[in-house]
Amino acid sequence: MSKSSAEKRDYSVLAEIYDDVMADVDYETWADYIDEIILEHNPEAIDLLELACGTGTIALSLEELDCYTITASDGSPDMVQKAIEKGQKVHSEIDFQTINFLDICLKKKFDVVFMVFDSINYLHTEIDILKLHEQVKNVLKPGGIFIYDFTTPRNSRKAIRFLHNHQKEISSTIRYYRESSFDGKNRIHTNHFRIVKEDPVNKNKSVVSEEKHQQKIYTQAEIEAIIKKTDFTILQAYDGFELRPAHEKSLRITMVLQ
Ligand SMILES: C[S@@+](CC[C@H](N)C(=O)[O-])C[C@H]1O[C@@H](n2cnc3c(N)ncnc32)[C@H](O)[C@@H]1O
Repeated sequence: MSKSSAEKRDYSVLAEIYDDVMADVDYETWADYIDEIILEHNPEAIDLLELACGTGTIALSLEELDCYTITASDGSPDMVQKAIEKGQKVHSEIDFQTINFLDICLKKKFDVVFMVFDSINYLHTEIDILKLHEQVKNVLKPGGIFIYDFTTPRNSRKAIRFLHNHQKEISSTIRYYRESSFDGKNRIHTNHFRIVKEDPVNKNKSVVSEEKHQQKIYTQAEIEAIIKKTDFTILQAYDGFELRPAHEKSLRITMVLQ
């Protein structure tokens, strides 16, 4: 077996199989949830900016509602490329762009900036989280809202059971393995992916690529303490995919800020 197992930049190799890895995620319901939040807190909103959009599934779902103009961005050019390809297939008018959410250089202003699937957990320091809020503030129209979710330590402890040692055949030549661990003391959740691609001609020849993602897991109190240092006001902290307040047993919390 020939191997090339150097670790790759986050969401580069994974981009190719990301939608297969996330096949069980109900993105339509998630898009509907974001729409519900917008209707609740900024019902006149038209211009949306998605940060960390991945392969664009939620943005494409929101576009189907026919009431928003959407810019969707991600820091990984490979993820954005996948999103563009998916968009082209449905003649999407979404403006997909590669943007690091810590350096949002857009002139346009938006009614809503949103970011889902614990993407904020990729920020490991308060300084970076403050920087993100500052960047978002600069592209929001007056009265605009910022929506994002994060996962809690309780979620990491539970999720380990089904995330760890997970493997899946994507096709006859591609499979992946995932190891997942949670360092409860430092609250670091690590997902280590090994993606194996077999050469269709010579099955003994395969290429192994690895990506290790580390997320910092915050409590609601920690996130709210950081938000207090920004110019944003907390409109709501929602539990899961509900429009009811988050609580100490919440696994995922969605913040709505203005
Ligand atoms: C868990 S995925 C979520 C993707 C997408 N929101 C979804 O729901 O499928 C996290 C995403 O955050 C992106 N990301 C991480 N750090 C980023 C940064 N500094 N700027 C922009 N995107 C970033 C990754 O490239 C990845 O696509």
